[in-house]
Amino acid sequence: MTIRPRRSALYLPGSNARALDKARGLPADVIIIDLEDAVAPEAKALAREQACAALSQGGYGDREMVIRINSLASEWGHADIASVAKSGAHAILVPKVSTPGDVMMTAAEMRKACAPDHLRLWIMMETPMAILNADSLVRTARDPNARLDVLVMGTNDLARETRARITPGRAALLPWLATCVAAARAYGADLLDGVYGDFRNIEGLRAECEQARDMGMDGKTLIHPDQIAVCNETFTPDANELAWARKLVAAFDAPENAAKGAIALDGRMVERLHADIARRNLEIAAAIAGRAV
Ligand code: COA
Ligand code: MG
Repeated sequence: MTIRPRRSALYLPGSNARALDKARGLPADVIIIDLEDAVAPEAKALAREQACAALSQGGYGDREMVIRINSLASEWGHADIASVAKSGAHAILVPKVSTPGDVMMTAAEMRKACAPDHLRLWIMMETPMAILNADSLVRTARDPNARLDVLVMGTNDLARETRARITPGRAALLPWLATCVAAARAYGADLLDGVYGDFRNIEGLRAECEQARDMGMDGKTLIHPDQIAVCNETFTPDANELAWARKLVAAFDAPENAAKGAIALDGRMVERLHADIARRNLEIAAAIAGRAV
């Protein structure tokens, strides 16, 4: 399976033509064109049209293009799916998902709309029910019919619905974030962190990116172009990590270690599982280096 770097995922409102155009030159791995909360009810149809027109016009290079639709329970959701199915996007991002049935129902709608197989399904993890159901919900990723590839934390909605406060360090959110990391890893999905709203505060953003990376997430969703550089930097394995990874892989590949599960390297005990992590870091770095954006 080829690894796809998803370090930075920039949201922009589908109603904002300037942002749609500007995204063609921004170094985000993923662009999420929003039709949901960033778009006012009276601009929904315009946003949908502009999003599809921008995709058919193209110019987004290697970026993974995702459209966040309105919930299927809203008056716009079904029309959104019908349009996005033919848009050439890589994935549909569905908000307010709470149960495995929500995933399968959306996938069924996609099939009905004749969505091509390569149009994937991403889901927001943003309701208290989604957290409680994380196991059964994300287990749907095992069913090829579900098309489920990526989970996106919706931390603002989660905070609103639970009445938790988002404080520096995000103590109240950590159990839910960690639950979603476990669900993603258990069923082979990627996981992207929620947004950092204080977009002029780059050091605050850096701390949150580091926290997400250290928890095991694959990247972070963003709201402003100024947030991309720090996010990409944080989620890219650095030179020291890569040097260590190469050394570790070489050590386990050496004939004298072929039968060993654990060895000493530079005064540290390392096991084969560390070599697996190292290999993944090398693959991610190679995939990032190969990107044209
Ligand atoms: N994507 C692409 N371009 C963006 C952008 C985004 N998310 N946010 C801002 N820009 C562009 C602006 O158009 C502007 O371009 P220009 O100067 O070349 O014309 C430039 O970046 C600087 O923008 P700035 O003036 O600093 O910000 P703003 O006041 O125009 O916008 C926000 C601030 C928060 C309204 C805007 O960043 C935004 O809409 N973000 C996304 C919100 C969203 O999608 N939320 C849903 C998920 S939570
Ligand atoms: Mg939300």
